Amino acid sequence: MFGVRGLLQALRRCSSAPCPKHAPVARLRVREALEARELTFDDVKVQGWVRSVRSQKEVLFLHINDGSSLESLQVVADPSLKYRDLNFGSAVEVQGKLLKSPHQKQNVELKAENIRVVGPCDTLMFPFKPREKHPLEYIRQFPHLRCRTNTLRSLLRVRSEATAAIHSFFQENGYVHIHTPVITSNDCEGGGELFQIETANKVKEPEGESHFFDVPAFLTVSGQLHLEVMAGAFTQVFAFGPAFRAENSQSRRHLSEFYMVEAEVSFTESLQDIMQVIEDLFKTATSTVLSRCPHEVEFFYKYVAPAQKGRLEQMLKNKFLTLSYTEAVDILKRAPQTFIFKPEWGQDLQTEHEKYLVTHCGEVPVFVINYPYDLKPFYMRDNDDGPQHTVAAVDLLVPGVGELCGGSLREERLHFLQSRLQRLGLLDTYQWYLDLRKFGSIPHGGFGMGFERYLQCILGVSNIKDVMPFPRFPHSCLL
Ligand code: 4AD
Ligand code: MG
Repeated sequence: MFGVRGLLQALRRCSSAPCPKHAPVARLRVREALEARELTFDDVKVQGWVRSVRSQKEVLFLHINDGSSLESLQVVADPSLKYRDLNFGSAVEVQGKLLKSPHQKQNVELKAENIRVVGPCDTLMFPFKPREKHPLEYIRQFPHLRCRTNTLRSLLRVRSEATAAIHSFFQENGYVHIHTPVITSNDCEGGGELFQIETANKVKEPEGESHFFDVPAFLTVSGQLHLEVMAGAFTQVFAFGPAFRAENSQSRRHLSEFYMVEAEVSFTESLQDIMQVIEDLFKTATSTVLSRCPHEVEFFYKYVAPAQKGRLEQMLKNKFLTLSYTEAVDILKRAPQTFIFKPEWGQDLQTEHEKYLVTHCGEVPVFVINYPYDLKPFYMRDNDDGPQHTVAAVDLLVPGVGELCGGSLREERLHFLQSRLQRLGLLDTYQWYLDLRKFGSIPHGGFGMGFERYLQCILGVSNIKDVMPFPRFPHSCLL
């Protein structure tokens, strides 16, 4: 049976247009048609795009898909309904009866009484061909059409379910969702990878030092500082929005525009608490995605990254490991291989180092904690240790991707923060941030997870551009 909800939805969508009084035409999505157990509707209408056309002497077979499921619905029709422009890629509306299929491969099929080609498709010019497996590099050239492929349709469904799963994780655990600003005057990470905002006129005719917003304004690199404001009123907050970084767009794991999941937890003095939230988020959201779109995920394991299935199972089954930065550097120094960047205490971990550490630990996620003070942004909590001076920072490294999350305890002690900002010459800029430490300051911490890197990690996609709905090509973007 359709679930009660499905039944009500289908009836609600009954066309108001000409429709026999006694038997309303139920408009079904392909997924609803495929999942129908009892064939309640005599007269149904399905809309979608043609995935294949096979015309035999006695019968015409079509497969149509509307993006609601990876599987397409088989339509069986009289060959007289084969119009000239009924081709692969065309948009159609099929009206007929939903019947139990005599074939084992599918539960139901739609016996067409009427087929209307809503939008024809020039198959010769269309860049995708039926039954051909197009590599990701090929389909990337058609950012405006690639959502018509099984690969991108699967990816976009996974992306949508993963977004919902992440929101549910936080909402179910008592976090408040905050929309943090996209345009801001702060450079949270201090890395200078900023896109500045000015009006188009100003860019053409720069005049003096005036800015549209009075002060220099940028696209946000992280919503963290705004979340920290909210962490002074709510004990658990999260944000899930776009972030922008002027980074090398040729890289397989960097984008100039990406989505970041961020959380901030108040009244915590332990980095372990933050790491536990990261691990729970990863495992819960991933299990939800696997159960909500198993076919789409399997599609990737079959055609894109065959080794990923086993790898992900290991990640979900095992406890994530923890290394200190100092231990990580020792492991790298003792490694039998030579790195392009020689590992040294005080230097950032490079992609090659992250890869080695994950492999060394058995291809499971690894937290690296307590990084050198001088490597990290001003807001990270001073461990006040020696002889090597560190901060309570954490990065999560995962197989195939490297850094997936970055977080820390925040410096909640006014005098520590004041003297650090003074040394960096940022005291004036961050007066408002210091206020947070003057009025009811609390120990707190949080993290950010790159959403595209998360998708790369669960699906085994090696190029980050392939998990974006719209990829940016290096330095150009027509869409
Ligand atoms: O490690 P990052 O720079 O941390 C922050 O921005 C913190 N303020 C977050 C916080 O504590 N609330 O960035 C967080 C994550 C990285 O681990 C990475 O997964 C992702 O964001 N990321 C990128 N993803 C794609 N393209 C880029 N250019 C990215 N830069 C960072
Ligand atoms: Mg980082």
